[in-house]
Amino acid sequence: MSSQSQVSVLHKFRGILFSTVSSEELLNALDSFDVREDDVFLVSYPKSGTHWIAEIIENIPNARITLTSPIELGDISKLEELKMYSKRRVIPTHLSYDLLPVKVKQKKCKIIYIVRNPKDTAVSLFHYYRDNPNLPCVETWAAFLELFLKGEVVYGSWFDHVLSWEEHRNDKNILIIFYEELKKDFSKSLKKIATFLGINVNDSEINKIAWKTSFSEMKNNSVKENSDLNHTICALTSDRKLVFRKGVVGDWINYFTSKQKRVFDELFTEKMKHSELARVLEE
Ligand code: A3P
Repeated sequence: MSSQSQVSVLHKFRGILFSTVSSEELLNALDSFDVREDDVFLVSYPKSGTHWIAEIIENIPNARITLTSPIELGDISKLEELKMYSKRRVIPTHLSYDLLPVKVKQKKCKIIYIVRNPKDTAVSLFHYYRDNPNLPCVETWAAFLELFLKGEVVYGSWFDHVLSWEEHRNDKNILIIFYEELKKDFSKSLKKIATFLGINVNDSEINKIAWKTSFSEMKNNSVKENSDLNHTICALTSDRKLVFRKGVVGDWINYFTSKQKRVFDELFTEKMKHSELARVLEE
């Protein structure tokens, strides 16, 4: 793909590619955006399972929260819109640590960072690029993978994003959740999230949440739900139907050639050599 077609639907802000639905004026204004101490930020690299975790939090009884649309979605009026919510706000975002409003760090707001195996993330993002009119057209998986490895995709390099958050993994206000662990032991991950938010959940509630947030249930509901930019938690589309593709671990095997796997693994080893998270992702 030519760099021209990238430029037509994405723009660079501080070296990172953003969709045009994130205005430069809004991104600049985030520097001085004031937050509330009880705000919760739900952070991820795109396609890591953000909708799933958001749905889980919304379904925790007594959570008393409002899920907002992503902080970087829209124009400058977004910041006024966020002030309207009176309940505790859960604010999704795909920003890296460095781009997050400085007041989130000063006030030590709670942050849940979701991370997913990068090969599955890449495959998921490839499909999202193909289906989403807000993203550039990419003809083939091979062309997309090249862009992904160079970090020339929306929200930049997966490696830089994850490492920017990993540096803060021991901060008391940050909880890291793995997509794969959530799949493997839903109850354990849900209890971690609830405890982090200061809420108790019992086993019968956990079973109900597991059912309501299962892939099939969320996919079915997404067809019925309205496509409305004000009610999306994705900064890249208002169409929830695009989000629910397969919802499995290990789909990458159906896409990567052995050469692509080797190149990917070499880069992973080099970039993630000091990473603790990498050990979990490689298991
Ligand atoms: P796939 O494209 O691999 O299917 P995000 O919400 O960050 O955009 O991530 C989207 C990915 O999470 C998609 O992955 C989607 O299918 C998966 N996903 C969404 N809801 C899920 C659920 N309830 N269970 C498992 N995976 C889910």
